[in-house]
Amino acid sequence: MSDLPERLAGVSAVDCDGRQALVTGSTSGIGRAAALALGRLGADVIVHGRDDAAGAEVVDELSRIGADATFVEADFASIDAVRQLATTVRDKTDGLDLLVNNAGGLFRDGTVTDAGVEFTFHVNHLSPYLLTADLLDHLREDARVVTTASDAHKGATLNLDRVRGDERHTGLAAYSHSKLANVLFASELARRLEAAGRAVTSNSVHPGAIPGSGFGRFLPGPLPALLRRLEAVPGVTSVADGAAELLFVAVSPRMDGVTGRYVADQRPSTPSTAARDRDAARRLWAESAALLGIDPPLAADSPVVTGDSAATDDSAATDDSAATDDSAATDDPPSGRDR
Ligand SMILES: NC(=O)c1ccc[n+]([C@@H]2O[C@H](COP(=O)([O-])OP(=O)(O)OC[C@H]3O[C@@H](n4cnc5c(N)ncnc54)[C@H](OP(=O)(O)O)[C@@H]3O)[C@@H](O)[C@H]2O)c1
Repeated sequence: MSDLPERLAGVSAVDCDGRQALVTGSTSGIGRAAALALGRLGADVIVHGRDDAAGAEVVDELSRIGADATFVEADFASIDAVRQLATTVRDKTDGLDLLVNNAGGLFRDGTVTDAGVEFTFHVNHLSPYLLTADLLDHLREDARVVTTASDAHKGATLNLDRVRGDERHTGLAAYSHSKLANVLFASELARRLEAAGRAVTSNSVHPGAIPGSGFGRFLPGPLPALLRRLEAVPGVTSVADGAAELLFVAVSPRMDGVTGRYVADQRPSTPSTAARDRDAARRLWAESAALLGIDPPLAADSPVVTGDSAATDDSAATDDSAATDDSAATDDPPSGRDR
């Protein structure tokens, strides 16, 4: 039987009492396990997904722990649904301490969303981008944004031509591309937050390869069931292990002030060359806004004001000191704002 994520992440003693967390994709898999762990640590948790029954179960479990929990349904293939999710979160909370952008997966069908965007890119990248943009001024001063990426990003280079409804762009190639977008998004967000004078941190995380989650559910035939059975094999990364990776980035004191990093095995790691391409990150930021029909968030002409901080500077896009540095690859544990 696997251990609790909070123990695996070394954060059992972290007191999250009074903290408000939104964990997207927490009806299943590592998001569910992370949401429950956050509840055990004392956080109030907004559970998100599409499956009402699964969401109600997670909320029940959190309530039994004593956590204040709510389920909000939103399909990440829909711009309107994501905007409504952000509105509901704003209505239900007076600020967020933790936004975990975790919803997503490997999808089989090469479909196009009603925004005219390739499905996997829309669900895995465009929706967390929009949700984060809509919640930026609702994030508390020292909030953390955690984006679940994957080492699968390492096979991809950014190709924004393909996300405009190329139905041949599907399966693993589309997944890998969307996870590259997650890493680029998280580090670009970090640079822009920092340039805006915000103490909010943004990091992406590789949770490991976790066969026991619902991740393989779109695979054909008996593969999903076979994958789930692998969870019981000694040495295989469990759902709790994957949730621990999220928790570490979300609440560990060792991540205090650490931002713009790709984290794997509970330490900053070096993502692929394509994921360290500043120009690609800037293009992704601008193109994502264009695809959604919104102004790019945290740009020089769209200041975000919360509390005593204001975003008035687009120099984030040209700051060369951030997480693209190979020195990010360190075996040392993170110890403060380390770039
Ligand atoms: N498992 C792995 O090996 C692995 C490795 C690296 C990265 N990851 C990443 O980890 C994250 C979580 O995956 P998991 O392994 O825990 O898989 P999972 O058990 O399938 O969980 C996926 C979660 O995302 C939600 N979701 C999926 N499609 C959605 C949509 N269209 N709209 C709204 N919510 C949606 C699901 O909610 P509903 O079921 O309620 O729709 C579910 O809560 C993903 O971002 C995945 O890419 C997983």
